[in-house]
Amino acid sequence: MLEVEIPWTWVLIRATGVAAWLALTGVVAWGLAVRAVKAAGKPFSRALSLHRWLGTIALLLVVVHMALLLVDTYEPFTIVEILVPMAATWKPFAVALGTVAFWLMVPAWLLGRMRKRWGDRWFLRVHALAYAAWPLATAHYVLAGTDALALWSLALLVAGAAVFVVLLLAQTPRERVTADR
Ligand code: HEM
Repeated sequence: MLEVEIPWTWVLIRATGVAAWLALTGVVAWGLAVRAVKAAGKPFSRALSLHRWLGTIALLLVVVHMALLLVDTYEPFTIVEILVPMAATWKPFAVALGTVAFWLMVPAWLLGRMRKRWGDRWFLRVHALAYAAWPLATAHYVLAGTDALALWSLALLVAGAAVFVVLLLAQTPRERVTADR
């Protein structure tokens, strides 16, 4: 019988990728839901802390996902290939989408931590941009993922996209929401 050895790093890269995407979907969906509720005039500061926590978990999972690529021997990546969009030799475009999503998440997370000290001005701009991380990460998932087209994965993608679209439609565009600190 033919035995194929599957590297543990590869399994973990895929597992952390899917977990990171789920956490990112959660943080974006929860953020949009909180924003819609805030626009309706309801208090939401506790809900906002869940949004913050999910953001930290999503970013941590992405960092582990990226770090594992450095130790994977099947398709080794360098630190430059991981951090610079289009520097990768393996599926450069698909990987770049993930890298750009990562670079949108980092400043939103950092400025969120510094918000009390630095104020809202930069935070709100950078934070609005971070929402673009979701479509980019989703495109990265579809184009780079080995299992992206498996039935379970398609079900996740369709459910995530449906939640994202419904919550976007639930927003009141003209209302500027300045979140509680
Ligand atoms: C928000 C950021 C990111 C998210 C949510 C994410 C998520 C994912 C997901 C869901 C997969 C598919 C797993 C599978 O089913 O096979 C994947 C695969 C992959 N990701 Fe990411 N990723 C992100 C950032 C990055 C970055 C920055 C890099 C490297 C520069 C990267 C490199 C890869 C590679 C090489 C694969 C292919 C693994 C395979 O062989 O299946 N990702 N990612």
